[in-house]
Amino acid sequence: MSNQQQNHPAAPYPSVVMPQCPAQRVLTGQKALVTGANSGIGKAVAIALGNAGASVMVNYLRSEEQAREVVDQIEAGGSRAIAHRADVSDETQVLAMYARMKEEMGTIDILINNAGLQQDAPFDEMTLAQWQQVIQVNLTGQFLCAREAVREFKRRGVVPEVSCSAGKIICMSSVHEIIPWAGHVNYAASKGGVMLMMKSIAQEVAPHRIRVNSIAPGAVRTPINTAAWQTPEAYERLMTLVPYKRIGEPEDIGRAAAWLASDHADYINGISLVVDGGMTLYPGFATGG
Ligand code: BGC
Repeated sequence: MSNQQQNHPAAPYPSVVMPQCPAQRVLTGQKALVTGANSGIGKAVAIALGNAGASVMVNYLRSEEQAREVVDQIEAGGSRAIAHRADVSDETQVLAMYARMKEEMGTIDILINNAGLQQDAPFDEMTLAQWQQVIQVNLTGQFLCAREAVREFKRRGVVPEVSCSAGKIICMSSVHEIIPWAGHVNYAASKGGVMLMMKSIAQEVAPHRIRVNSIAPGAVRTPINTAAWQTPEAYERLMTLVPYKRIGEPEDIGRAAAWLASDHADYINGISLVVDGGMTLYPGFATGG
């Protein structure tokens, strides 16, 4: 045995075997839960995971009809999908959702912690209810869903034919985990919280071969921010904040999520993947400073 081998005893896991399936179907055989998957970024991510071969539970709270459409689209692409209504900020409903996931799909390999909302107000006019609702859904909801996912990942462990990881969590954050946002203090606080929650979970569960990361989107064309892109004037104003000079499309985030969840990203753990056309490059400094 060489010195190097003696100094670095073999890890308790087999070495990584990359998926042999075609790049488009990198999630074949994996079971994914996407929260808030009936519209916007969640919808695009659910469809992208389905197109990559995953079976998908499409979580929604309000529009069953929209959720069914997402299920139909995933099925049309050749993957399995089911819709499930649950409020991610309610512990009982989260436990019931995971019980259904187990019943219908047997286990979970990928959690996309996506459900989130905004309740904007000038700081001194923000009500406690607005503060609490945003923290409850955006932060506590992600905690509850991540905890149940980790419990199942630890119980089941690595199944090498499915993935070289025991499970993957992707928290949907925002550029506002980095960029302070006047008028949106509750939202920025929730995303700042998501950032260190994600990293702390990642640090704790990495030895179990569980990967926990975030995606931090910039301005993406979704119902959450229609006011920022719907009129030509608003779009032009928005572009002063985006060096790449186009709004993000939900599919930009879908592709990033499918890759980050796949074994192609197996050595990536505890990061926020910023997908923002350069919004976090401080564009105001491009011509001054
Ligand atoms: C917010 C959007 C906003 C974007 C960039 C997102 O996290 O939900 O409303 O347009 O950040 O500021």
